[in-house]
Amino acid sequence: MQIVFCSSLCIFLTLLSHRVSSEGHASIPPRGWNSYDSFCWTISEQEYLQSAEIISNRLHPHGYEYAVVDYLWYRRKVPGAYPDSLGFDVIDEWGRMIPDPDRWPSSKDGKGFTEIANKVHSLGLKFGIHVMRGISTQAVNANTPILDITTGAAYEESGRQWTAKDIGIKERACAWMQNGFMSVNTKLGAGRAFLKSLYVQYAEWGVDFVKHDCVFGDDLDLDEITFVSEVLKELDRPILYSLSPGTGVTPAMAKKVNGLVNMYRITGDDWDTWGDVVSHFDITRDFSTANMVGATGLMGKSWPDLDMLPLGWLTDQGSNEGPHRNCNLTLDEQKTQTTLWSMAKSPLMFGGDVRNIDDATYGLITNPTLLEINSFSSNNLEFPYITSANSFKKEDQLSTLQSGRHLTDGRPPQTPSLSLTSCADVRAIGWSVEALDQDPKQICWREKLSNKHQAPFCLYKRESHVASDEDIGYQQQYQGKFHLLATGRSEFCLHASPKRKITSKEQSRGSFSPCRRDANQLWEFNPNGTLANSYSSQCATMNSLKAKNVISTGVRSWIATGRKGEIYLAFFNLNAEKTVISASISDLAKALPGKNLNGASCKANEIWSGKDFGIISQSISTPVEIHGAALFVLNCVAA
Ligand SMILES: *[C@@H]1O[C@H](CO)[C@@H](O)[C@H](O)[C@H]1NC(C)=O
Ligand SMILES: *[C@@H]1O[C@H](CO)[C@@H](O)[C@H](O)[C@H]1NC(C)=O
Repeated sequence: MQIVFCSSLCIFLTLLSHRVSSEGHASIPPRGWNSYDSFCWTISEQEYLQSAEIISNRLHPHGYEYAVVDYLWYRRKVPGAYPDSLGFDVIDEWGRMIPDPDRWPSSKDGKGFTEIANKVHSLGLKFGIHVMRGISTQAVNANTPILDITTGAAYEESGRQWTAKDIGIKERACAWMQNGFMSVNTKLGAGRAFLKSLYVQYAEWGVDFVKHDCVFGDDLDLDEITFVSEVLKELDRPILYSLSPGTGVTPAMAKKVNGLVNMYRITGDDWDTWGDVVSHFDITRDFSTANMVGATGLMGKSWPDLDMLPLGWLTDQGSNEGPHRNCNLTLDEQKTQTTLWSMAKSPLMFGGDVRNIDDATYGLITNPTLLEINSFSSNNLEFPYITSANSFKKEDQLSTLQSGRHLTDGRPPQTPSLSLTSCADVRAIGWSVEALDQDPKQICWREKLSNKHQAPFCLYKRESHVASDEDIGYQQQYQGKFHLLATGRSEFCLHASPKRKITSKEQSRGSFSPCRRDANQLWEFNPNGTLANSYSSQCATMNSLKAKNVISTGVRSWIATGRKGEIYLAFFNLNAEKTVISASISDLAKALPGKNLNGASCKANEIWSGKDFGIISQSISTPVEIHGAALFVLNCVAA
């Protein structure tokens, strides 16, 4: 636009163009690449720019727009540094994180990510970064002053300068990175000034996308999300706002934030195990049923995020190493994952190393039908009206599902389970007493600190009360022992016997037994990190969420409608054997209100096999591979 005519017209046009772009913020699920699955935290400027160039050439034509640097870009990559180490971060005089100049040489002389963002923009892409909650422990320890961006000097209020120690809330350290970051007190002007100084700087660097971590799910910090969202709204630069992690997220929780953000995770970290893929089905169904897909968002829309796609050439979680191994999912499992992510309209963020992308992976993430569904389909829901026939087990033959009922046998084990083992077993080590200044105290299981986003499993510690003199014997017997409660207030105690396994899901349902002075319910914490049960003398251990022997069975289906009236129908086989899955044409209308399919016949094509199923008028049926998916495009005409 040229500033030639009257200034009022120009102002009008400027406002108009701003309005248009604002309304379009995240109008379709964002798509891009994120460095975490292939580099963990270790990516360098050279590796990032090489990747961005390839994304620009090979993925941008397929709608992949954002190139996101994931966590710890400010951490020096030197011996001793790892995801929860303390003291290796590069911060400026105002306590703000700045890129590690050894890994990001162009950031020297206070330039931050400016040059990187410029290069990314010249490639036609958008630049994204990961940031953590609040303020770093390092800045708090250094007690740095706070920048007031309105004056360019140290923040002053009530006649004094405020510093990092005034605003950091030590009791609210990030649960999965205890040593790294803590919440900021947003009730203080100084706290708000600090947060503002961060996001204004990101905008000055040219950042287009912020993945704000350790503020959602089990780590919810609504005050910080709300304030950051306000800051972003006021900036001239439209920044897409993404929240993480997604452990423990419910539609009710998401309804508090969706209008403030553009995408938010709804599960824990997704890695390349079958259990992780399966764990997305239920929660995704719940979010689409709750109408959260494409709901109102910050200056546009918001999207429930199923996490990056860990396909192709990868690293491991919490690793100090770059990409070095292949994805562990079978090709059928990868088809299931990409099909579900597309049918649910999740943001698609590819996680593999784009410099070493194999043809099969490239084919999956650029499949035109999947991408069309992901961007433009509507009415996306789980479709419960399917039947399955298992060709190997007689008793399972044609186990018809009642209309409208959800499968119950496909539920993944979503929670780690607690069981007992010998106290001498190293697998029993991993408990620690948390929040020492908090009452009641918590005892938590931390499998691996580097296990990004996996929420620790915590129980509340309560001394068992002694009522009268008669209890003296009891007191002696159980000195130093305590009850473990699911929540700080309940009267239900963890009850363990060697025969029983307790999952944290049972805990939330309240199936702990009423507290008693019973050896079965009494526990003792050993300094070596074990938790001994007084009755059995055995120790509690948690079985990993990512256990290899996850058994998940059942079939699932999703439905959606396309821009040209076509119907998309996906079948998912979670069974460990090939299964025939069927749906009748007359049932399709049950999930597609307003669509007339009376006596319809449909032209059917299956995407993964490329098979033309011809004209179908009764039911559509196909064998689906172990852990695989079928995806039909149906063009139907009513009779
Ligand atoms: C991938 O699978 C192999 C073989 O099953 C296993 O040894 C390895 O630990 C797996 N890697 C990851 C990261 O899960
Ligand atoms: C931990 O300490 C307890 C109590 O001293 C002991 O019985 C147990 O063998 C120890 N376990 C391990 C794995 O070192």
